[in-house]
Amino acid sequence: MIFGGSSSQELASRVANELGVKSGKLEIRRFPDGEKYLRVLDDIKNQDLVVIQSIHHTPDELVFEYLLLADTLKDLGARRVVSFFPYFAYARQDERFKPGEALSFKTVCKLIENVGTDEIYTIDMHGHRVIKLSDVFRIPAQNLTAVPLLADYVKRMCPMQRPLVIGPDAEAEQWARVAAERLGTDFDVFEKKRYGDRQVEVRPRKASAKDRDILVVDDIISTGGTIVEALKVLFVQGARSVNVACTHPILAGDALEKIRQAGAKNVIGTDTIPSPISHVSVAPLIAEQVRKAGLSGTS
Ligand code: R5P
Repeated sequence: MIFGGSSSQELASRVANELGVKSGKLEIRRFPDGEKYLRVLDDIKNQDLVVIQSIHHTPDELVFEYLLLADTLKDLGARRVVSFFPYFAYARQDERFKPGEALSFKTVCKLIENVGTDEIYTIDMHGHRVIKLSDVFRIPAQNLTAVPLLADYVKRMCPMQRPLVIGPDAEAEQWARVAAERLGTDFDVFEKKRYGDRQVEVRPRKASAKDRDILVVDDIISTGGTIVEALKVLFVQGARSVNVACTHPILAGDALEKIRQAGAKNVIGTDTIPSPISHVSVAPLIAEQVRKAGLSGTS
């Protein structure tokens, strides 16, 4: 049975459809004082369960809701709870950048483990300093990638001539490499300096975008600042066209409008975060992993 938290109900039904299994039913509401109420409406005793909860936009609330849900499922006798966090908030605060800062990522990981989660999966998680999730979690944990799905969509829907894949910063190399392999072409990454939450500067390295159709790939589009700066550089270099793809379209404020105004031809994201550009579903990726995890009732 697949349970979707309030952030991921649609995605959870897509995964349930892919697998031909039942979607679990929950009652979630707020008490008048603002506290959250959660009730599991199915009999789940001795069952293997999948929980999907993308932690975006209201992360504190969604983390807490997940804790209530997983703890309740285990308390009601679930045999195994395998959880997917398509977007994992707080992953960017995986280091104490200034003395005294909270290591939010570590705290969230501890909480998720402590409610009895048996296994966790994330998708293109932004833990740049975390090489392997198994270094952070004591339970089995794995980071999946949606980039092949994005690249396949681009190949089908956005034909490109002499394509070149660009990652807008050094960390994006992991995604640019995968997309380039999938498109059978080369890639490069830019150098990025961040001056604040909304201010970044990017510089090209070796590859030239002249007369080429470009695909810029990143994990997250938040304010859009990174992508807008990358677009400026690419058009100055003489790119023919620029498509943009990301796994997690947070799209804070007017990010999408800014990117379109900066000249992007197509902007594509996945449904880890529902948005106007979520053209690619990660449901097949999650379903495949559920099958591999060998839960009873799926094959
Ligand atoms: C940073 O390292 C990430 O990979 C993204 O490039 C970043 O989060 C995008 O943020 P924004 O859209 O606000 O520039």
